[in-house]
Amino acid sequence: MSQVIEILENTQKEKEKTNEKKDETSVTIEDVETNVETKRISTHTHLKGLGLDEQGFAINVASGFVGQKDAREACGIIVDLIKSKKMAGRGILFTGIPGTGKTALALAISQELGPKVPFFPMVGSEVYSSEVKKTAVLMENFRRAIGLQIKEVKQVFEGEITEITPNEVENTYGGYGKVISYVIIGLKTKRESKQIRIDPKTYENLQKQKAIVGDVVYIEISTGVVRRLGRAEYLKDEYQLEVEDYCAIPKGDVNKKKEIIQDITLYDLDVANSRPKMDTKGDLFSIVGQLLQPKKTEITDKLRGEVNKLVNKYIDNGIAELVPGVLFIDEVHMLDIECFSYLNSALESAFAPIVIFATNRGVCQVRGTEIQSPHGIPLDLLDRLLIIKTLPYTVNEMAMILNIRAQVEQIKIEEDALEYLSKLGEKSSLRYVIHLLTPSNLLSKIAGRTVVTLKDVKECDTLFFDSKNSAKMLISQEEKFLK
Ligand SMILES: Nc1ncnc2c1ncn2[C@@H]1O[C@H](COP(=O)(O)OP(=O)(O)OP(=O)(O)O)[C@@H](O)[C@H]1O
Ligand SMILES: [Mg+2]
Repeated sequence: MSQVIEILENTQKEKEKTNEKKDETSVTIEDVETNVETKRISTHTHLKGLGLDEQGFAINVASGFVGQKDAREACGIIVDLIKSKKMAGRGILFTGIPGTGKTALALAISQELGPKVPFFPMVGSEVYSSEVKKTAVLMENFRRAIGLQIKEVKQVFEGEITEITPNEVENTYGGYGKVISYVIIGLKTKRESKQIRIDPKTYENLQKQKAIVGDVVYIEISTGVVRRLGRAEYLKDEYQLEVEDYCAIPKGDVNKKKEIIQDITLYDLDVANSRPKMDTKGDLFSIVGQLLQPKKTEITDKLRGEVNKLVNKYIDNGIAELVPGVLFIDEVHMLDIECFSYLNSALESAFAPIVIFATNRGVCQVRGTEIQSPHGIPLDLLDRLLIIKTLPYTVNEMAMILNIRAQVEQIKIEEDALEYLSKLGEKSSLRYVIHLLTPSNLLSKIAGRTVVTLKDVKECDTLFFDSKNSAKMLISQEEKFLK
């Protein structure tokens, strides 16, 4: 890594020395960013958690969840066990007929665990890819579900920004305009003020944090990572913005050691170490230079082994702590016998997350074999799992779920229409009636109403079929369909 920051008065010779010592092939944890995948699953947006009370009992309607008390309480125990790190290497299976809230429960578990515990959702069919081996996909996802909390003491600059002065030069690469060669930043603590020089990359980080003069920031010297801590406290009266987060001006020196806690997953480490290191002597900003750098090398078992070794070392030294998270495999019946046998052994490995499976299948064939087995899962794996059942909903519960959904989707619906939908839900499925809400709302809007009435819902039901009705029609008109 090139030197990113320097104090103007004394250049950081020591840092350069440590950089030189770094072995090219050695595995490092520096500069690892968490690969957070943001997924917006609108089907479950009304759920905010499991809705349990302090003793762990399910409140009938809470956090968007209705009924299904036993399963929710069981999930509450699982959450406690995961948080106290007593669950690693175990498996849970949600079984139940379609639309009874299995996926919803798993997502509620992830919400209860909070952002510090990794939770990685996948669907059984994701393993089938023509490019990557099935077990490699599973292995990768296993590692995404294992977190590592690393405590590091880092050398940082911390203080209130007193000036930001970019130094611009002519673009020497033939482009138009000017480029920033370095930026001078003034930082002030209670004890002293200092000017430091940062490179354009660090300046970019500063801009991403939206840090301006008067903000308190810290800048990690080795990586150039910038964090904005808040606006300097004494400026409170000046701006009078209530939303601002203020923080005290740091005491002590501008250049100091700070304990920084970083949450990453083993997968983040694999990726960071498979990325070839930029040649520090080469030109980082030349486009040709970047093109010539191979983007990624493959994550091999050897590399994973190296990462594991390093992680073990850090754990032994007390620098890092393992945080086994959750790998959620929905529609687990889609996996085949090779995946199942891999899972058996992976669950027993030293670094194993908690694996939660969900399926709506009864007794069926295990993919890749002729064997019939409950839920399409081989008996030896099934034997290792704790099973949580979800039960069908009553009409009353369906009405409550529909009501919550209507609120989330901002749909006003009349009492008798809701009642009709819930009764319909008992005959067809919860999912079908939830899906009918939006089109019914559309019909009512077309008719110039703002509230969904029984007429809209009935009309909608005649326009669409649920799976059972559709299957009935198929049978009655079998001879007319193409075979
Ligand atoms: N107890 C509940 N409270 C509130 N909403 C629920 C509840 N159970 C299910 N839902 C909602 O009903 C819909 C269907 O539930 P979900 O997708 O979890 O079913 P599933 O058991 O995973 O079904 P499948 O087996 O078909 O995958 C979702 O929108 C879900 O958020
Ligand atoms: Mg599901």
